[in-house]
Amino acid sequence: MSKPPKWIEIGAVSDVPVRGSRFIQVSGGAVAVFRTSDDQFFAIDDSCPHLGGPLSQGIVHDQRVTCPLHNLVIDLTSGEGQGPDGGCVRTYPIDVQEDRILMDISTLKQTKVA
Ligand code: FES
Repeated sequence: MSKPPKWIEIGAVSDVPVRGSRFIQVSGGAVAVFRTSDDQFFAIDDSCPHLGGPLSQGIVHDQRVTCPLHNLVIDLTSGEGQGPDGGCVRTYPIDVQEDRILMDISTLKQTKVA
């Protein structure tokens, strides 16, 4: 049985550049929030499934991000790496209410946001 959603505000839409990202430190790890060129928002773990590269420093294109270390491409909708050894990162639901970004932290191990 899944946990009920627990939404927290993580910032304003303007805090995340178009085709860019924002890094959020949480007690259970680090999360990268991405904004695509058509203003969709996604949140995934900020650690590449290959060797832990910082995905928040990657290049955003369409609904994907390319890891800055060895160019693994991660699908922002599913968290899956593309390729035979792609691996997978966790994704977190995002909602935008007017100009505020909300993230569901119910699946994080701990919920303290720094
Ligand atoms: S650490 Fe991301 S592709 Fe190697």
